[in-house]
Amino acid sequence: MTNPEIVKVNLSRQKPDFSYEIVIGRDLFPQIADYLKSANLASKYAIITDTNVQKHLHPARLYSALNQKGLESEVFVFEAGEENKTVATWDRISNDIARAGFGRDSSIIALGGGVVGDLAGFIAATFDRGVPYIQVPTTVLAQADSSVGGKVAVDTPHGKNRRGAFYHPKRVFIDIDTLRTLPYAEYANGLAETVKHAIIEDRDYLFYIQENLNLIDSRDPEIFLELAKANCSIKANIVEQDPNEKGPRRKLNYGHTVGHAIEKLSDYKIHHGHAVSIGMMVAARISRNLEYMESKEIAMQEKLLRNLGLPVNIPKEMTADEIIKQTLTDKKAAKGKARYCLPKEVGTMLSFNGQYVTEVPEEVVRSALQETGAD
Ligand SMILES: NC(=O)c1ccc[n+]([C@@H]2O[C@H](COP(=O)([O-])OP(=O)(O)OC[C@H]3O[C@@H](n4cnc5c(N)ncnc54)[C@H](O)[C@@H]3O)[C@@H](O)[C@H]2O)c1
Ligand SMILES: [Zn+2]
Repeated sequence: MTNPEIVKVNLSRQKPDFSYEIVIGRDLFPQIADYLKSANLASKYAIITDTNVQKHLHPARLYSALNQKGLESEVFVFEAGEENKTVATWDRISNDIARAGFGRDSSIIALGGGVVGDLAGFIAATFDRGVPYIQVPTTVLAQADSSVGGKVAVDTPHGKNRRGAFYHPKRVFIDIDTLRTLPYAEYANGLAETVKHAIIEDRDYLFYIQENLNLIDSRDPEIFLELAKANCSIKANIVEQDPNEKGPRRKLNYGHTVGHAIEKLSDYKIHHGHAVSIGMMVAARISRNLEYMESKEIAMQEKLLRNLGLPVNIPKEMTADEIIKQTLTDKKAAKGKARYCLPKEVGTMLSFNGQYVTEVPEEVVRSALQETGAD
């Protein structure tokens, strides 16, 4: 028998540099057009957005800013809502774009909240095997978190974000003025990830948010500019250390094991940030029950979440058993067991040999869930 032949595809010298800039400011649409014109990303731009963002005319304004610079674009819209962040919507919009004559020389603009960003980013990652895209986040959540880091995905019946990729945008434009049309409840929804950043990485940031509650409450654009800057710096720093989520990047999943389960069990009626807020309370209590975290640290987190109008209790109708069952579908689960990111104190996460996640005995999870209001 002859030995099999081996042909090697040697990519070791290829070092793609996926670095990109996050531009944070006000009234940025003309600058987006200037950037696209000079970067010459594509011959045509597909602006992907949802029905609510469209209703407030942001896509029309962006279309006209591009048009003024002689750039060709077309707007593609899907029905707003997490329940539409699906393979079916990915397929439909991809087909619409293809049918409109877009090819490999085109580029995608994700204009909207995290749902648009995740879905449009996944379309960009897969359309004709990948076309460049930019993120233009329009919610507090997307400006704090989802538009940065290159995680793109859609949900499946088996769980959240179960089809996706790591695919970085060419640039992110955070235009604070797009928040002007955001419903009040969506502000709180986005602030949960802001609190998460403070807990996982920056104790002083928690005090800063606490001290600026009045400005946050009055939706002052300047404070949201400062928050976007701080959030993006924290997230960028973590992503730089660990782009493909093998270690420290897992910290960003704080509150998300139970958060995702609650989102799914509520049929996405409880929004992401609200679910993560409750999930952080459960994870903090797990950490205390394992004797890692002190009660006074949990109290600091709870006070800030409450002050920001975020929920801290599990809805009455949910049982600990169904939440535990749902957590097994989480992407972080390994060998059939859910894993948790746990804080040591406000500003520092537990490392677990650099993994930043750990399995937790079921009875410890159950008692933390019950303390947080589950049946
Ligand atoms: N990729 C990541 O790293 C990452 C990180 C965190 C969250 N996420 C994902 O982000 C999603 C949640 O994002 P979200 O909270 O932004 O949800 P979303 O995109 O559904 O936006 C919330 C609501 O606000 C509306 N909206 C958006 N911008 C608006 C504006 N300027 N004016 C008026 N209405 C506007 C939307 O239509 C929607 O009804 C989840 O799917 C979550 O999984 C991803
Ligand atoms: Zn999140």
